[in-house]
Amino acid sequence: MSLPVPSASAPFYPAAIAGHDSEAGARYTVRSPATGEPIAEVADCGAEVAQVAADSAQRGFEQWRQTTPFERAALLKAWHGAMLEAKETLALTMAREMGKPIREARGEVDYAAGFIEWFAEQAKRIDGDILPSPHPEKRLSVLRQPVGPVFAITPWNFPAAMITRKVAPGLAAGCSVIVKPAEQTPITALMLAELWRQVGGPAEVFQVITAERPAAISEVLMADARIRKLTFTGSTPVGKRLYAQSAATMKRMSLELGGHAPFLVFDDADIDAAVTEVMASKFRNGGQTCVCTNRIYVQRGIFDAFAERLAAAAAALAIGDPEDEATQVGPLVSQAGRDKAQAHIDDALAKGAQRLTPALSVDGLYVAPTVLTGVTPEMRIMQEETFGPVAPLIVFDDEAEAIAAANDTPFGLAAYLWTRSLGRAARVSEALDYGIVGVNDGAPSVPNAPFGGVKDSGLGREGGHYGIDEYLDCKFVSTRLDR
Ligand code: SIN
Repeated sequence: MSLPVPSASAPFYPAAIAGHDSEAGARYTVRSPATGEPIAEVADCGAEVAQVAADSAQRGFEQWRQTTPFERAALLKAWHGAMLEAKETLALTMAREMGKPIREARGEVDYAAGFIEWFAEQAKRIDGDILPSPHPEKRLSVLRQPVGPVFAITPWNFPAAMITRKVAPGLAAGCSVIVKPAEQTPITALMLAELWRQVGGPAEVFQVITAERPAAISEVLMADARIRKLTFTGSTPVGKRLYAQSAATMKRMSLELGGHAPFLVFDDADIDAAVTEVMASKFRNGGQTCVCTNRIYVQRGIFDAFAERLAAAAAALAIGDPEDEATQVGPLVSQAGRDKAQAHIDDALAKGAQRLTPALSVDGLYVAPTVLTGVTPEMRIMQEETFGPVAPLIVFDDEAEAIAAANDTPFGLAAYLWTRSLGRAARVSEALDYGIVGVNDGAPSVPNAPFGGVKDSGLGREGGHYGIDEYLDCKFVSTRLDR
C-alpha cells in the first residue's frame, strides 16, 4: 500500500478521481475521535470535481461494460487478495479515523473483503432467460445488463464494508462507481481505491470523491442523468430527500436507512446464551450499527435474572483506546453522536428509568456501556435510533404482546428473538415486519445473505445473489426469424 496510515503528522490524501489532481485544491482535516487530534488532510472537493468524476465514470462505464464477466471476476479477485494483504494497515486506519476497536476493525476487513470475493464469483452467474414463445416465428429472450454509472454514498460506521458491499456488485455487474465516503472516514475509502488501481483496476471505473460538506457534490451527481443509480446508507431523513431528488432523473435506488431493532427474549431462553447474543448485537461497534439492538423485551419469568446478567456483562466491557488489543468499546464517532446517546440516557432517567450499570463518567467522546430498566414507550430511546452503547430493557407477558411491541415502529431493518421453541421461532420470525431476523443469533450479517429493510428502513437488498440484481437492468429481446 503506497498510502500512509493516518498519524500525528497528518499526511495528505488526494481524492481518487480519474483526470483530476487534487493536490492544489482545498483540504479539510480528519481528526481521531479517540484523541481529537488531527490525523490526516483530505481533498475537499466541490461541484467542479464532481463534474470531472461524472465524465470519467461515463467513459469508464463505456469501456468496462465491454469486458467479460470473467475478466471482471479476475480483477475483483485480485482486489480481494490485495485487501487481505493490507489487512493490518486498513484495520489500523479504521481504528484511527473512526475509533473502531482494533480487533473489530480486523474483523471488518475480512467481512468487507468477503463481499468482493462473493461478487467476483457472482459476476460469472449473471444469467439471462430464454422464454417459451407463443409465436412459431419468434424467439424470446431476456438479457441482464449493467444499469450504468453509479453514485454510492457510504457511512462512517463501516468504513470498508459498506463500500465493498456497494462497489463490488456494481463492478461485477459492469457498472462504474463513484463513492462519496462519510466526511469522518475518507481514508479507508481512498486506500480501497488505491488497492484497486494497484491490481490493475481502471481508475475511471472506481473513483472516490471526498468532501467535508458534500451537498455540492451530491447536487451535481443527483442531477446528472448519466448517473443511473444511487445507493445510499445513512439516516432515514437524508434517504427520503435523496429518494425525492432522484425522481427528476429516474435513478435506480438502494436505500439502507435507520433501524430500531427489537430483541425479544422468551422465558424458555438459556439466559447466558441470550445475554451473549444481546451483547453481540447491542455493543458491537459501540452500538453504532444500523442493526444494533435498540430495545430489549424480556419475558416476565426471566426478567430479573436476565437484567442482572446483562448489566454485569455490560459493566465488564473494556472501554479505551481503539488501538489497544484489549479494548471492546471505543469512543463514539462525533460529539453529536455522543450527545445523542447521552441524551437518551438522561431523558430515560428523568422519566423514571433506573440505571443497572455504574454511572461512569468518561472524558472525550466515550459513553460507558449502560443498561436501563423501567423503560416506557414515551422515552426518546424507544422511538429514535440511539447509535450508542445503551441497552433499555422492557418486560412483556406473552408472545402477541411482544410481537405487537416489536412491530410498533416506522422502522423495519433487523429484529432478533431468543427461544428454544421451534414453533415460536417460526411464528415470531414470520410475524416480525423486518428485513432481517436473527433467531438465537445477534450477529446474522454475512456477505452471501441479503441485507436491507422495509418501511422507513429503506429499499433494496445488498449482499447475496440479490445484491447484484440492484445493478442490473432487465432487457426483453423478441426476435422474428426469417424476414
Ligand atoms: C450497518 O450498520 O449498516 C451494517 C451492519 C452490518 O453489516 O451488519
